[in-house]
Amino acid sequence: MKILAIDTSCDETAAAVTEDTKILSNIIWSQASLHAKFGGVMPSLAQRMHRERIDWVIKRALGTGNVDTIAVTVGPGLSIALGVGVNKAKELAIKYKKPLIEVNHIEAHLLSPLANSKTEIKFPAYGLCVSGGNTILVLIEKIGKYKILAQTVDDALGEALDKGARMLGLGYPGGAILEKFARLGNPREFTLPIPLVDDKVRNRFSYSGLKTAFVRLVNSIKNPSKQDIYNLAATYQGVAFKHIENIISYQISQSTIQPFNHFLLGGGVAANVELRRRLRILGRKFGFKLHTPYSQKVCGDNAAMIGVAAFLNPKYVEPSKIDRDPSATL
Ligand code: KG4
Repeated sequence: MKILAIDTSCDETAAAVTEDTKILSNIIWSQASLHAKFGGVMPSLAQRMHRERIDWVIKRALGTGNVDTIAVTVGPGLSIALGVGVNKAKELAIKYKKPLIEVNHIEAHLLSPLANSKTEIKFPAYGLCVSGGNTILVLIEKIGKYKILAQTVDDALGEALDKGARMLGLGYPGGAILEKFARLGNPREFTLPIPLVDDKVRNRFSYSGLKTAFVRLVNSIKNPSKQDIYNLAATYQGVAFKHIENIISYQISQSTIQPFNHFLLGGGVAANVELRRRLRILGRKFGFKLHTPYSQKVCGDNAAMIGVAAFLNPKYVEPSKIDRDPSATL
């Protein structure tokens, strides 16, 4: 099934054509540099830019080809940004009399390792979505059936990394730059508290305490050297990831059911090499194989993953009834 997929959930205007789990085109127009001067995404600017670019990305994704179905992200995401994609998908479905599929953005991130992949995943499996807007660990009983094991109570991991990067003056969005700096640093030069180590239930992620401790630490260093900045980046990123590892380990070791053999990782932060390395080590301990998106372009927001999720778990909807769902849950 050939699908034209659209995603305008945040600050990327994205369209793609997929056939089953194969990606035929994946066009992303990122607005990140426009939002950079505000230090975060400005919803009204995002909406305006999506409106300006949506036809262009769709045209480029389609080329001269035709599709059978249209799919679009309905949520979660920024309401007025989502509206642009949803309205466009509705308009095209009506005009060309094509079936329409609504897609949950988090589900698409979770299933993104299946794009362009021939590996057979056995379910149940674990899934972790780490992006700018979400940090969520799930048990994927089967495609379409998810049990949330842990999710964030404040910032998402990507958001926390972006804020840490900003405190070091590395710009926005800073996750990828922080990773580069962290590679040059010593994570043991400074200490920061690992979030929620004494938590009894460990079914949540939290980054607010770490952020506050990091502001204090950064402010306590007068005239930091370049090496200090590298070390701070390494310490902050290391602790942020240690928290993820702790919650995963706890959830797996507490599970009364047999540990599973497959672990799917998706979202913008899935591009991080250090995070992948740590999760592979956990995999050796708990007996799971880590699956990641085949390219960086499929980690961050993109529409190819929307097409793949629409194929794997199609939720058909009448074009006249489709609506954005900014706080959609899995
Ligand atoms: O998936 P995504 O594009 O947006 C949401 O759906 O929210 O993720 C964006 C996030 C940003 O916070 C960005 O800093 C982070 O992913 N990110 C990274 C890396 N590349 C992108 N974080 C850590 N390391 C990276 N290499």
